[in-house]
Amino acid sequence: MRPRVIIHNVASMDGRLTLAPGVDLMAGDERWAAMMGDLADPYAWARATHDPQVFLEGSGSLLNPVGAPLHDAEPGPPAEGTHFLPADVVSAPGRHWFALVDGAGRVDLQFTEWPDPAWAGWHSLVLTSRAAPTAHLARLRDRGIPYLVVGETRVALGRALELLRERLGVETVVSTGGGRLGGALLRQHLVDEIDVELLPWAVGGRGTPMLFDAAPLTPEEWPTRLELLGCETAGEGRVRLRYRVA
Ligand SMILES: NC(=O)c1ccc[n+]([C@@H]2O[C@H](COP(=O)([O-])OP(=O)(O)OC[C@H]3O[C@@H](n4cnc5c(N)ncnc54)[C@H](OP(=O)(O)O)[C@@H]3O)[C@@H](O)[C@H]2O)c1
Repeated sequence: MRPRVIIHNVASMDGRLTLAPGVDLMAGDERWAAMMGDLADPYAWARATHDPQVFLEGSGSLLNPVGAPLHDAEPGPPAEGTHFLPADVVSAPGRHWFALVDGAGRVDLQFTEWPDPAWAGWHSLVLTSRAAPTAHLARLRDRGIPYLVVGETRVALGRALELLRERLGVETVVSTGGGRLGGALLRQHLVDEIDVELLPWAVGGRGTPMLFDAAPLTPEEWPTRLELLGCETAGEGRVRLRYRVA
């Protein structure tokens, strides 16, 4: 059994999640800030609406700065299931997670808990695979960042979600990752709800990251049928759409 999974993104009216290939919004961009207008905290609505125990993020937003190159400290890849779940971190009352999908172990996560008091209790967690260098896992352990090793070369997303439920009691995950993470979740039928806040701007641009950047449908595959749950206007001409996966 896996948790309920909601995709939540803020997108331009034409579904773009950023301005151009390679533009990392976490680094800040005055154009995207202008597009967001008075939408100060893009997490706030999803947090208030769904009360998730996990916000899920993709490595595509966090690869800058990249950590120093790491060399395996131990021979051979880490075994599946060699998770790091220290009891003092995992069992803290009211524990919530910022979980990062990083199958290759490339992201040099710098924080355990966010310093912002509004996010007290939210802790980093890494979902990784056997492709992660053992030295990377050692660095996570040194920093007190829990991780799950699930999958051979990438994170086996379905199994990882099941483990979040089994090992950490997670019932609701909101994925705020980029389009490739959303696309992988969609193609693997791991999405229950899609909530998008559309900004009244058109970005365009071939190759610009957008909602559900996945492989094209094969002739046998069908698009994902959705049922409208809600449609409301937010400030400054934004539209908030909520769909349940049928
Ligand atoms: N507007 C918004 O709401 C919003 C939200 C987030 C990001 N962004 C922007 O979007 C851009 C990044 O988006 P992106 O699409 O390039 O990257 P992304 O979705 O953030 O990262 C790709 C993620 O998907 C994982 N993944 C992809 N296919 C997979 C599969 N088959 N199995 C398991 N894991 C899989 C990758 O894992 P591996 O690391 O293992 O490859 C990685 O974690 C940035 O510009 C960022 O600023 C915008």
